[in-house]
Amino acid sequence: MLRLKQIFLVQYKNYLQSSFDFHSDVVGISGKNGKGKTNLLDAIYYSCFTRSYFTNLESLNVQFGQTGFRIEAVFEKDEKTYTVTTIYRGNKKEISVNGVPYEKFSQHIGKFPVVMIAPDDIELISGGSETRRKFIDTVLCQLDTEYMYQLLRYNKTIQQRNSLLKNYHRHPDDNLLDVLDNQLTIPAAFIFNRRNEFMHELLPRITSFYHQIAGTEDEPKIQYKSQLFHHSIGALLKENRQKDILLQRTSYGIHKDDIQVMLDNVPFRSIASQGQRKSLLFAFKLAEYQTLVAHVGYSLLLLDDVFEKLDEGRMNNLLQWVCIKNSGQVFITDTHRERLEKTFNTLGLSAQIIEP
Ligand SMILES: Nc1ncnc2c1ncn2[C@@H]1O[C@H](COP(=O)(O)OP(=O)(O)OP(=O)(O)O)[C@@H](O)[C@H]1O
Ligand SMILES: [Mg+2]
Repeated sequence: MLRLKQIFLVQYKNYLQSSFDFHSDVVGISGKNGKGKTNLLDAIYYSCFTRSYFTNLESLNVQFGQTGFRIEAVFEKDEKTYTVTTIYRGNKKEISVNGVPYEKFSQHIGKFPVVMIAPDDIELISGGSETRRKFIDTVLCQLDTEYMYQLLRYNKTIQQRNSLLKNYHRHPDDNLLDVLDNQLTIPAAFIFNRRNEFMHELLPRITSFYHQIAGTEDEPKIQYKSQLFHHSIGALLKENRQKDILLQRTSYGIHKDDIQVMLDNVPFRSIASQGQRKSLLFAFKLAEYQTLVAHVGYSLLLLDDVFEKLDEGRMNNLLQWVCIKNSGQVFITDTHRERLEKTFNTLGLSAQIIEP
């Protein structure tokens, strides 16, 4: 059981100094455009994931004109209280739990699982493969610390290899390339195997949610794609070294993986309707949520402006499923307070509505 009980924000985006108490499983956040609904969700996400959902640029999280921010989130998890404090000041960030700072922020990932669904997430369906790799990694990093470390190691080595390739015409260093290629072997194989194994669990969930949400007969075919199905990473790097030198970057590896979705043998993203895309996006996200709950036992769900995307019946089904069946905590934003009230009443949910 995981619950967020309170959050204090200081100089975080539009919040100069604000504090919110949460005492329900369903928290509606209402207010006019620009009031800070999304920013509040982002602060919650930040406390779970050690970074903003929307930006990697910390300076955008600091209130304009200030030099730092502070977020303090009080969680209750399995009957214990955890205060997660994030302090960002002078380009330095510190995150601590109950006053004890982390040496590495990665130690925090997975302790307070969270899933966000936000308007721009449709990129996950319509955009390039990078968004889908990020999706896979976001789930797996929360479930498996070893996966996260192998991924960090892989990404760091790829970066080194790419900068070596960039400078190759001035400093050709095949020995160092050999060393780096060797260093990639273990993390690449680990990540590939873990992703492949994980897809057997995730993909059927996505398909099943898609059918529930879309309520149609169409049969999207969803597959994990990786160059490593056919060749070892060692062979790929070796065979393509000349090509990589010309391109000045590493063109093969697990950083090219994708989740491919086909509808009637055509890529989903080139033919699917708006409605089908939305349904598939929700299917991806709910499958993520369900997977976290299945493994960890709980996860927060942050829904930003989803009323604009789902009709009333689907919204009710979703809330019922999350709050009643999974006994999870949900935060949901909407500009229309009455719409939130009506939904919560219809479902008989113990809910609260706050206004930032
Ligand atoms: N770093 C910052 N410092 C100060 N204000 C900021 C900062 N970043 C964003 N804002 C302000 O926060 C406001 C947006 O807040 P947010 O996106 O949370 O609104 P919202 O309630 O979700 O609105 P909508 O209903 O339109 O989605 C904007 O007015 C924006 O200018
Ligand atoms: Mg918003």
